[in-house]
Amino acid sequence: MTKLKADYILTMDKNYTILKNGEIIFDEKIVEIGKNLKECEREIYLGENSVVMPALINSHIHLEFSSNKTHLEYGDFINWLHSVIENREELFISCKGECFKKAIEEMKKSGVCAFGEISSTGNDLRYLKHSPLKVVYFNEIIGTTPAAVDMLYQDFLARVEESLKLQNDKFKVGISIHSPYSVHPILMEKAINIAKTKNLPLQAHFMESKAERRWLDKGEGEFKLFFEKHFKNAKPLIKPIEFIEKFKDTKTTFVHCVYANDKELQKIKEINASIIHCPVSNRLLNVGLLDLERVKNYTIDYLVATDGLSSNYSLNLFKEIRAALLMHVNLHPKYLAIDLLKSVTTNAAKALDLNNGSLEEGKDADIISFKLPGKVKNLDLLPLQIILHTNEVQKLFINGKET
Ligand code: BEZ
Ligand code: FE2
Repeated sequence: MTKLKADYILTMDKNYTILKNGEIIFDEKIVEIGKNLKECEREIYLGENSVVMPALINSHIHLEFSSNKTHLEYGDFINWLHSVIENREELFISCKGECFKKAIEEMKKSGVCAFGEISSTGNDLRYLKHSPLKVVYFNEIIGTTPAAVDMLYQDFLARVEESLKLQNDKFKVGISIHSPYSVHPILMEKAINIAKTKNLPLQAHFMESKAERRWLDKGEGEFKLFFEKHFKNAKPLIKPIEFIEKFKDTKTTFVHCVYANDKELQKIKEINASIIHCPVSNRLLNVGLLDLERVKNYTIDYLVATDGLSSNYSLNLFKEIRAALLMHVNLHPKYLAIDLLKSVTTNAAKALDLNNGSLEEGKDADIISFKLPGKVKNLDLLPLQIILHTNEVQKLFINGKET
C-alpha cells in the first residue's frame, strides 16, 4: 500500500472535488482518498506546490506513422491525404522497435497511462505486447474497392484474432472504421457486427474536412478528383447520417466532426456516442476548428487526443490541451480548462471503457504527480494553471506501480 501526499489533489470525481493538502492510498486500485488518512508503510510527500491527479488518456493516435517528421504535406487536407498515400509504405517500413518506443516514451513523459491506437496493418502489435502503457488497440478497416472486399475482410479478421489473444488488464481490443468515405458499406457492416458481438469499442473518423462534406453530400469537389486518381471509382458509398446510424447500440467515438451538421450531432447524441477532438492535427491540415460550444449544447462528451505524428509534431498530451486552450478563443479559459482536463481523463476513460480517469475508491490506481512553479490561491484556477505550466510529470503510476 502506498500513500501519496500532495498540496493539491484534483480528483476529477463527479463533484469535481479538489483537496488542498490531500492524501491518497492505493495498491493496484485506489483504496482511500481524503485528508489525515491512516498511516501506511510507504508514505511520500511530493513537495511544495505538488499536484496529484488521474493519469491522462490519449484516446486516438496512429503509432504506425511515428517516423513522420517532415515527409507529409500540411496546409491542405486533400494534399495531405495524397502525401499519406504516396509515403505510407516508406513511413511504415521506417517505424520499427525504437520508433514505437520513442513515441510511447513521449506520451509517458507527459503523464499518459493509456492510449487508443488505430492500427491499419497490425505491424505494431508485437511491440505493443510489451507496452509500459495501457493500450486499447483499434484494428482499422479501410478500403472501397468492391473487388478487394473479401481480401480486406480476411486480413482484418486475422488482425482482430491476433489482437484478441493479447487481451489482459493492460491490453484491450477495439475496432476502427476508417471513415464514411474510405470503407465499403459491406466491410462497415461486417466489422461493426464483430464489435457488437464481442462488445468492443469503436472509433471512426467523421467529417474532418470540407472536402468530405461536399463529397458525401453531393459527390463533388476535391474528393472526386482524388477518387478518380487513386481508385477509378467516383461515387460516395453512404450518406453521413446513415453512417452514424450504423453505430447504434455500440460504444463509439467519432473523430474530428469539424463539419458535422446539426442533424448529425443530434444523431451522435441519440446513439450515445462521443467525439474526439484533435486540434493540432486539424490546424496543420487546415480544416478549421471544431465548435466545442455547439458540441456541448448537444450534451455530447468530447475527448481531446493528439492523433498520430502523421498530423502532429508531438504526442505530448499536455501540449495538445494547451493548444486547445489557446485556440478556442471564444471560450472562457477558466471553464474550458476544466473541460479539457475532463476530456483527457473521465470522458476518455468512459469512451474507451477503462476503469480509470478519476481518483475514486475502486478505480485503477493510474495516477500522475508534478509540481507547479508557485502556489495557486484561487483553486478555481488550478486546472488552467496546470495546463499552462505542465509539460512532463514527475511520477506516473499504472495499476499502482510506478512506471
Ligand atoms: C481506399 O482504400 O479505398 C481509400 C483509402 C483512403 C481514402 C479513400 C479510400
Ligand atoms: Fe486519426
